[in-house]
Amino acid sequence: MTNSKPVGIGIVGAGVISEIYLENATKMFDNIRPIGIADLIPERAQDRAGAFGIEALSIDDLIAHPEVEIVVNLTIPAAHAEVAKRAILAGKSAYNEKPLAITRDDAAELVTLAKERGVLVGGAPDTFLGGGLQTGRKAIDDGRIGRPVAASAHFLGRGMEMWHPDPHFFFQPGAGPLFDVGPYYVTALASMLGPVEAVTGFGHASFPERTVTAKGPKHGTSIPVNTQTHIAASLQFQSGAIGSLMASFDVWEAPERATILTIYGSEGTLHLPDPNTFGGTVTLVHEHTRDTEELPITHGHTENSRGIGVSDMARALRDGGDPARASGEMASHVVDIMTSVLEAADAGRRVDLTTTMTRPDPLPALSGM
Ligand SMILES: NC(=O)c1ccc[n+]([C@@H]2O[C@H](COP(=O)([O-])OP(=O)(O)OC[C@H]3O[C@@H](n4cnc5c(N)ncnc54)[C@H](O)[C@@H]3O)[C@@H](O)[C@H]2O)c1
Repeated sequence: MTNSKPVGIGIVGAGVISEIYLENATKMFDNIRPIGIADLIPERAQDRAGAFGIEALSIDDLIAHPEVEIVVNLTIPAAHAEVAKRAILAGKSAYNEKPLAITRDDAAELVTLAKERGVLVGGAPDTFLGGGLQTGRKAIDDGRIGRPVAASAHFLGRGMEMWHPDPHFFFQPGAGPLFDVGPYYVTALASMLGPVEAVTGFGHASFPERTVTAKGPKHGTSIPVNTQTHIAASLQFQSGAIGSLMASFDVWEAPERATILTIYGSEGTLHLPDPNTFGGTVTLVHEHTRDTEELPITHGHTENSRGIGVSDMARALRDGGDPARASGEMASHVVDIMTSVLEAADAGRRVDLTTTMTRPDPLPALSGM
């Protein structure tokens, strides 16, 4: 008999992104139930707790809470590994915001520890479970483009200092366009094409210093740039497909061209939506005729469904059936890919990956699709 009691979740990190997680955990996903929230800055946890009718707790008390089965870790990237490790060592499953960790060793350690302790680890992004990318995944699995032979993933912009009030961290190791935005693109590709075996890449910081032009107390201050802010990489997938990835905070691009996610197959091409969203348009380019066709969306969750990965982890915990889709194995592989790209660019050579992954199962299509 399955245990249908909702899985209790405890949130660590009461910043910007915690609001949508709490909203969706409360209204969208009925198999998870928020129990409490904690933050290094207790007032932040108290504000969110008050707004959502949950408990504000210390981090230790939240992790130890008997009803918390999954610790949802929405702290800053540099704290992801440490907070998740504490949860896992306390016998709790852990779901991290992206990236899983900022080094491949830390990411791999979380996967190993979770296995040893018999709990789950995984993490964002979960946009690959949205209706847009799942429609694309189904088109690939249904053979609409034949055998995938190549992919393009581009995220192009002129940086964060124009809109973010405190953009310093975007230009430091552990962020930059590859670690901050890249997880959406790399996860989307890996979830559809499977693991990557090797990468090459070039990268640099086109501008050694940035100036905050966003309104606010930091306006006019300068930021030293300590990470690559324009990266062009090639990804060799185990399947044989070759991906090209460009991630930049350094170039001006029109919004409609700033995001490219395309999978080229032996019998057609699939243009996919911005992988930092859940919905969007999926377009198939047919072989020979090159006619384009907008595909009907076959899956739900086209609206902002952040937390769908947590809900899927809760399903896996209760059912013990299909593995959790936003898995630690995939998130760790994504960290390995991104780290390897930066190393390849630094060293000017090919880097072979040390991790691999299994493609997550697709979600069921809407009935009749
Ligand atoms: N803001 C967004 O739009 C957005 C979107 C997608 C993903 N994310 C990801 O979500 C995560 C959080 O982003 P955010 O924008 O909410 O950041 P934020 O700075 O608004 O919030 C982070 C919170 O974590 C707390 N914190 C930091 N270290 C901690 C620790 N060791 N223990 C407990 N609390 C700690 C901070 O005090 C802060 O309140 C990041 O990984 C980011 O990449 C953010």
